[in-house]
Amino acid sequence: MILSATTVPEAVRDFAREVARDLALTPKQIQSKYLYDALGSSLFESICRLPWYRITRAESRLLARSANEMVAPVEDPVTLLELGCGSGEKVALLAEALRTRRRRVAIHLIDISATALELSERTLGALEHVSVVGHRATYEDGLRRAARERPAKGGLLVLFLGSNIGNFDPPASQEFLAEIRGTLRPGDALLLGADLVKPVGELMLAYDDPLGVTAAFNKNVLVRINRELAANFDLKAFEHRAVWNPLERRVEMHLVSVRPQTVSIPRAGIEVAFDDGESIWTESSYKYEPAEIMELVSEAGFRSHAQWVEPDARFALTLFVVE
Ligand SMILES: C[S@@+](CC[C@H](N)C(=O)[O-])C[C@H]1O[C@@H](n2cnc3c(N)ncnc32)[C@H](O)[C@@H]1O
Repeated sequence: MILSATTVPEAVRDFAREVARDLALTPKQIQSKYLYDALGSSLFESICRLPWYRITRAESRLLARSANEMVAPVEDPVTLLELGCGSGEKVALLAEALRTRRRRVAIHLIDISATALELSERTLGALEHVSVVGHRATYEDGLRRAARERPAKGGLLVLFLGSNIGNFDPPASQEFLAEIRGTLRPGDALLLGADLVKPVGELMLAYDDPLGVTAAFNKNVLVRINRELAANFDLKAFEHRAVWNPLERRVEMHLVSVRPQTVSIPRAGIEVAFDDGESIWTESSYKYEPAEIMELVSEAGFRSHAQWVEPDARFALTLFVVE
């Protein structure tokens, strides 16, 4: 069935418009936010449990060890705001550290995925001293919405964890950090989790695991386009590929066409021709050095307060304050 403009939900219309725009680019692209439908979010949770994807465990270890210090500079009553919350397990560690202050903690969760929000709300439901508001929105829209709803008193701690910042290219990350800074008040803070540069072999295993879970996560975006935009991608005709780009210091995920083919995407109003070996670039994960993170965020108008580095998996959490 072809849905008319009035019956197609706005989110599907945006998806169709952006897919049409980005598959016309050279190289062809699909934005990584579209990897997270219900199945994509579940696959991401599985990736977090893979022995080769060490980001989640490394960051959770840092949070479990130092959550008290991380929340210390923020005044009561504290509002926590997490951008791209995933399972909500990390924000729960910080909320737990605030329990001793005997004040209620308001938590705003922002995620494009309804599944991630449901999972987080369930995780946080076990904590009696918190009230949770979920915003199903992009980072930018959700941030604006949550900032409008915050109480007049108390500090706001923005959490941008899991190296989500690494999905932005450097100019876009600068722009987004400045946008975060623009919504904050003196006394607020930002806790940023960023993955560090490490040996290429380790990076490749994290983004192209031997069980093929990351490949399924990546290919699922084609399943989503088939379902939501009535496309006819043949899943066997595309392969997952992860590559380390040493000049840009990022891992790129691609879907590579294994033969010349034409795919039709009726709800986006396009037919797309692929050469043999041509790829769709679906995600970038930039990797950083600890000092570089300080510099990047300080340039957006924050003052760095403290940094915690997990030396085995090489992951950094950095706390910035607004003066
Ligand atoms: C890599 S996962 C990380 C989840 C969690 N922060 C963690 O550390 O495990 C990224 C999360 O951000 C959400 N997300 C990705 N792009 C987004 C965007 N542009 N706007 C809002 N949410 C987004 C995804 O749905 C997913 O839950």
